[in-house]
Amino acid sequence: MEESNKNLKLKIEQLKKEKNCLILAHYYTRKEVQQIADFTGDSLALAQRAADNEADMILFAGVRFMAETAKVLSPDKKVLLPVMEASCSLADSCGAEELKRMKEQYPDHKVVSYVNTSVEVKALTDVCCTSSNALDVVGSFDKEQKIIFTPDANLGGFINNLTGRNMKLWKGACHVHDAVSVKSVEELKAEHPAAKVLVHPECRAEVVALADYAGSTKGIIDYAKNSDSEEFIIVTEPGVMYEIEREAPGKRFYSISRSNSCVECEYMKMVTLENIYEALLHEEPVVEIDEQVRCAAEKSIREMLKIK
Ligand code: 13P
Ligand code: SF4
Repeated sequence: MEESNKNLKLKIEQLKKEKNCLILAHYYTRKEVQQIADFTGDSLALAQRAADNEADMILFAGVRFMAETAKVLSPDKKVLLPVMEASCSLADSCGAEELKRMKEQYPDHKVVSYVNTSVEVKALTDVCCTSSNALDVVGSFDKEQKIIFTPDANLGGFINNLTGRNMKLWKGACHVHDAVSVKSVEELKAEHPAAKVLVHPECRAEVVALADYAGSTKGIIDYAKNSDSEEFIIVTEPGVMYEIEREAPGKRFYSISRSNSCVECEYMKMVTLENIYEALLHEEPVVEIDEQVRCAAEKSIREMLKIK
């Protein structure tokens, strides 16, 4: 296995150079996938990198909404997504037609959408956000401005609590983070009472309430790295353990996946060295987006990038 991974990595390196292809990977992908990426990041950093690079081609090691965002921002580049079925329960929870109807029902509301949405939903959105910049994005509107927040009700509720706003929340959730139970965090805390609890805000409010820090994957990594504490309970998808252990060597990390077995994103894990190699070799599957939809979606993503 190790030997075949080594060979695949070499072949991917070679093809990547030949084709001037940039490989972008999310922290939730497999360790060996993160190892061959040119850049690994959270949703915000990946969108920023997709908007600003010198490559001829982008291969997205992540899920479909991320690859779509890259294509929206780099329309002249070929964007490859090794597995088109790599979806996202949060993005899937929000249909464009349903959102259109909600907008008609509340015509005086602006729409803020988490980037975990389809390109069609982004095209109906005023400003996108990620878990890194959601507070800044929502804070960029007047206090009086009414807002529809899609699609993550947990993240939206978290922002409502922090800002005192009353945004209308789409009833979507990430099946991975929403499945984390209070009991599983408390069990780990009982085992490691000195550990700080770091939680992704896609988790339910009662789980976020147990956090010493709540923030995006990058926020969690940075907190662990810069904190004086030595031990941390990591309440997000376990793929992040690879980067966190690299960034903060010597510290001790306990992943929630140890006591809450369903906390793994099957969509992120669909990307493998094998399908990355095949995608690079054949230059497919390619992400294609209708130009009118792309232009409308670009506005809401660029609005976000202007803010942060
Ligand atoms: P971030 O990368 O912004 O923390 O989001 C987590 C996530 O669920 C991505 O799908
Ligand atoms: Fe979507 Fe959740 Fe997977 Fe992220 S972890 S891609 S939000 S299903």
